Amino acid sequence: MLTAPAKEAHTADTRDSLGTVRYLPSLSLDAYRKDVVADSSLLRSVVDFGRPGAELALSVLERTVTEFDTDETGRGNSYRTAQRDASVRWTGVEQLLQLCAPAGPAVVLDILGGDGTLARAVAELGGEATSGVTLLTSDISGEMVKEALARGLPAVRQAADFLFVRECSVDAVLLAYGTHHIARQDRPAAVREALRAVRPGGRVVLHDFDEASPMARFFTQVVHHRSTGGHDYPHFTRAELVRLFADAATPAQVLDMYDPLVVRADSEEGAREAMCAYVGGMYGVSGFFEELGGVQEAWSLLEEVFDHTDYLAGLDRTGDFPAAPRIHEAEGSFVAEVPRVSIVAVARKAV
Ligand SMILES: C[S@@+](CC[C@H](N)C(=O)[O-])C[C@H]1O[C@@H](n2cnc3c(N)ncnc32)[C@H](O)[C@@H]1O
Repeated sequence: MLTAPAKEAHTADTRDSLGTVRYLPSLSLDAYRKDVVADSSLLRSVVDFGRPGAELALSVLERTVTEFDTDETGRGNSYRTAQRDASVRWTGVEQLLQLCAPAGPAVVLDILGGDGTLARAVAELGGEATSGVTLLTSDISGEMVKEALARGLPAVRQAADFLFVRECSVDAVLLAYGTHHIARQDRPAAVREALRAVRPGGRVVLHDFDEASPMARFFTQVVHHRSTGGHDYPHFTRAELVRLFADAATPAQVLDMYDPLVVRADSEEGAREAMCAYVGGMYGVSGFFEELGGVQEAWSLLEEVFDHTDYLAGLDRTGDFPAAPRIHEAEGSFVAEVPRVSIVAVARKAV
């Protein structure tokens, strides 16, 4: 998902000072350190731009453009607009946070944190199960991190495979909702970095979708062909998850997790419409949905692609989760639910 950094002579090595690196769209590294890090005890205790290799990583980051920056570079603005309702993926988010922090208060580093969707979801919806969780939002996209900071969330810009965080400085690390965007060759480093950042006994939780899942099918058959930026990113297999952690000398358990999209509205038609608007914005396919003819046609497509009957049968999990998109009534609202089943690796760092 990253455009190749331009080969130019303008690197950190040639600068008067590292502080002039444009770390965020309108903030130098110095300004970020003075205006953002200095004001946050969490960032002060975690962030470290002095590690060996940080200069090179900063210069690469400065020249990195991602599809999540803006709609001109891909689907950044539409993605952020879709995430205004942070409740849509709460079923999965809550489970992931419980896996990260099963026993009380914890700082969880959210590596693919975007503009802080998960942090906002916890603030808006979190109950007892996530009450002790503090999320530190992190993302490679400067625009995403800028927006997270603008919302008052602690946030750091960094690539998953090179973190500007101190060793053993967080209680858990989460890689979720987009882990397939990490290039295959960078995934071992991303896992090593997560294990470096987490304290002994803390957990690293890596979430994505199986290559064989309906979600991956939606990406390859629909999003890749119909969105502005395309979507040419390999998802994961269970074997890959096991191997990634085994190669980092930390065994992981791999789970299947029910991870639906859920929206609510006052009418059945409104629920369908809200779901199609969410999926259209989130995956950059609103234009395609319009071309199809509108809400009915888009909903029919979702019903077809997100039919989990065969996938669940293959897992021997028929009946454990809803198998197809549905509208149902609950607590006086109409609820549109698109099933998704993710695969999640959970690893505990040795003490
Ligand atoms: C699908 S979005 C998820 C954002 C947020 N967690 C959410 O659920 O709304 C994926 C995010 O991963 C970020 N990302 C992609 N590749 C990355 C990498 N190599 N390192 C760090 N972040 C990355 C993108 O910039 C994007 O914001």
